[in-house]
Amino acid sequence: MELSARFQIRSAVNIFVLPISLLTGCVDNSSSLEPIDISPRVSVAQSGYLGIEPIEAPSRPFGPEVALGKKLFHDPRLSADNTISCASCHVVNEGGDDGRQFSIGFQGRSGEHNAPTVLNAGYNFAQFWDGRVSNLFDQVDGPVHNHVEMAANWDLIIKRLRGDKAMVSQFRHAGFRQISEHSVKSAIVAYESVLVTPNSKFDRFLTGHEDALTLQEREGYAAFMDLGCISCHQGRNVGGNLFQKFGVYDNYYLARDIQSQAAYGRYNVTGLEEDKYVFKVPSLRNVAETAPYFHDGSVATLEEAVRIMSEYQLGSPISDDQLDNLVAFLQTLTGEVPEELL
Ligand code: HEC
Ligand code: HEC
Repeated sequence: MELSARFQIRSAVNIFVLPISLLTGCVDNSSSLEPIDISPRVSVAQSGYLGIEPIEAPSRPFGPEVALGKKLFHDPRLSADNTISCASCHVVNEGGDDGRQFSIGFQGRSGEHNAPTVLNAGYNFAQFWDGRVSNLFDQVDGPVHNHVEMAANWDLIIKRLRGDKAMVSQFRHAGFRQISEHSVKSAIVAYESVLVTPNSKFDRFLTGHEDALTLQEREGYAAFMDLGCISCHQGRNVGGNLFQKFGVYDNYYLARDIQSQAAYGRYNVTGLEEDKYVFKVPSLRNVAETAPYFHDGSVATLEEAVRIMSEYQLGSPISDDQLDNLVAFLQTLTGEVPEELL
């Protein structure tokens, strides 16, 4: 009881104070990007969710469009040589990513980005680490054409799928007149949109089940709010609604001697100097399941990722106890993928 009272006081302060320091401090890229709207954060605070909203279970039963999308997501005919499906790199029952530093795509090729999870991706305000597309529909073109991922094209895919009678009738059953780029993408998006993970321990806590979290996990939540992680990782997806620089207090890349085009982040999209090293703040939902970490998959453990965050994003080292508590809290963000979607 005392603990939760303490939460509310500390958290209420942080919600209103941190975003201001954030907007004047680290979001110097805001002018060049979509305007950052802080009102959702305020309404979250007002609704009593203190910066993070629970994920609601999607309504059921899922329709035939979702079933079709699931099939397409797992269909290697979307790749040039019929070997790679979306699910090759986004394993939905294992955190929605592939557990590798860099995914293995067409003919064993790799890119420079770690595969993010597809779980809850529909809640992100932009897709990809550098936010270069704004929605799931447009995102699908990326992997389909990317020469290190599926290396295919729509003409080829449509031709293959139209030659499959069962597919033709499944598209009709799902309400599409024909198999086209548009209908394939729409079905995949229908699937991805319900690929959400409700019922995490933390969401149970948020929705009134105080005993869903242990004392240590609650301390971790308090640290997450107090230290200011919440100023960037916030909202329903505990991230996914801001662009931020990686290395607010120190240059992470100089310190580690990392040189790659991917490290430039948003700069690769906008060409603006102030967007160098700026990334979409990733969601921390299911983060315990999505090692390795960061856009380049350079960090193997959650402990190390959190230590780097406190040093480079908050400018203050944290104690071992705080670190343990934070990691314990982050582990409570693992939710459940609806079984029919696996
Ligand atoms: C070869 C591995 C690979 C395949 C195949 C693949 N992806 Fe990805 N996916 C990635 C990587 C790597 C990224 C991050 C790329 C970046 O940010 O530049 C990504 C990013 C995404 C994102 C953005 C998530 C976010 O939070 O930014 C979504 C959504 C997604 N993929 C869905 C799909 C779908 C749908 C397919 C099939 C049409 C697919 N992927 C096929 C590796 C893959
Ligand atoms: C100023 C904004 C900011 C703050 C504050 C911040 N983060 Fe981050 N966080 C980011 C960005 C941006 C990334 C992506 C960096 C990259 O991959 O290049 C990230 C990545 C992460 C990751 C890796 C996620 C993944 O899927 O790879 C974890 C874990 C994380 N942060 C936890 C925390 C914790 C815990 C705190 C508080 C101690 C914190 N962050 C504070 C912006 C922030």
